[in-house]
Amino acid sequence: MNVTQQEIKEQAEIALSLRALFAGKKGMVRTFGCQQNEADGERILGELADCGLTPTEELSEADVVILNTCAIREHAEQRVLGIIGSMKKEKEKRPDMLIGMCGCMAQERHRQDLLMQSYPFVDFLFGTDRHHRVPEILREALRSRKQRQFVTDLPHNEFGVISEGTPVYRDSDYKAKVSVMYGCNNFCSYCIVPYVRGHERSRASAQVLEEVGSLVQAGYKDIMLLGQNVNSYRGDVDFPTLLEKCASFEGDYWVRFMTSHPKDASPALVRVMAEQPKVAKHFHLPFQSGNDRILSAMNRKYNREQYLEKALAIKEQVKDVSLTSDVIVGFPTETEKEFLDTVELVKQVGFDMLYTFIYSPRKGTVAEKMEGRIPHEEQVRRFSYLSDVQNEIAQKNNDAFLGKVLTVLSEGVNEKGIPTGRSSGNKIVTFDAPVLQGTFCKVKIDTARQYALSGIVKD
Ligand code: 5AD
Ligand code: SF4
Repeated sequence: MNVTQQEIKEQAEIALSLRALFAGKKGMVRTFGCQQNEADGERILGELADCGLTPTEELSEADVVILNTCAIREHAEQRVLGIIGSMKKEKEKRPDMLIGMCGCMAQERHRQDLLMQSYPFVDFLFGTDRHHRVPEILREALRSRKQRQFVTDLPHNEFGVISEGTPVYRDSDYKAKVSVMYGCNNFCSYCIVPYVRGHERSRASAQVLEEVGSLVQAGYKDIMLLGQNVNSYRGDVDFPTLLEKCASFEGDYWVRFMTSHPKDASPALVRVMAEQPKVAKHFHLPFQSGNDRILSAMNRKYNREQYLEKALAIKEQVKDVSLTSDVIVGFPTETEKEFLDTVELVKQVGFDMLYTFIYSPRKGTVAEKMEGRIPHEEQVRRFSYLSDVQNEIAQKNNDAFLGKVLTVLSEGVNEKGIPTGRSSGNKIVTFDAPVLQGTFCKVKIDTARQYALSGIVKD
């Protein structure tokens, strides 16, 4: 399960041996989906760079392109398929380029052969347990020049690795993502993740702390601890302890975490957030449905009452907290009344932001075989009804910030040239005067919109 340092060393040696071959060439990773995938993408790009490829974001100049795919909903898969299709022309123009696929879609068993057959110009595909072996994969792809698959034979509840010490090419010099655990054992009935990311496994706390400590020392200001169920972290310490330690380095920075499962959102975790000044005041706690029958059909392992209790405790105990969530509408057999339970819960909690998803059947999951699919038009109606309710709540929550002074981490300027940044609660805050990207400033809020605040920089 733990990749040995010997294996990591072997990969580094292969990378070294490829450098002359890739001299002057460029590599690109195109990532789809969640932050976990983004973190993987930064590691894969790090390995490409180690092999001598200069990182690029321009497809037209990339000699090696890796599509790091997402499978969470059908829409995500369609986007990936559209992009792969469009790469055919690029390959025709430059037959020497290498195209690879990885990520959750590439790990779906039923897709692997099909992808290779449908896209003969894709050179290789590798699974989510092979991220640390990119140098070897490139070498093999170059040698054979015929399509190759690098995937596991193990069943989903047995595969999955932890690899320490692979190179990483971070896409920001002030915000960083640090994976602390991988995989998922929960098997929510709608979700593909446990099948494509393997079983749950946690990094040793010493390794996490070493990474976080060196990021703080390098000047990173916003460090996100990542995991499919980050608060289910079971290393040599529990998650609240790990978080507290991550927030105890010398220096001015925030540490945040994503995504939490309600079953493991303990009072200890809420206390650490409330008491530790360096823990960002943002709790993302997906609830998925406000109805007990649907929660049980989703295999979520908590009921409405238990969720409410936790959500309200967070709001009560953590000053100025942003509470955000994920919800699925139109799950098979969801009645109008059950949907209205979800609406009611949204009103009761008063989320700052809600990511609302239309249920999308995923092959191989339990829900995919359920009867009682909700027609798409009805799913869309529920989606927009809930969005309207949430928009009003978000506006009301943000109005409460008028006149307050918030600490904001500057992100430079947005696409309209307006100075912008994020608050501790991860809210977008725009302001009147430019502030160096990656530094903190104080902003007095004078305008509140649904999903953004703006104000005047105070010195
Ligand atoms: N259909 C719709 N939404 C889904 N999610 C996960 N699987 C599905 C699916 N099959 C949502 C959940 C999860 C978020 C990352 O994506 O709300 O929290
Ligand atoms: Fe999917 Fe549920 Fe695991 Fe989240 S907890 S990744 S929704 S199975």
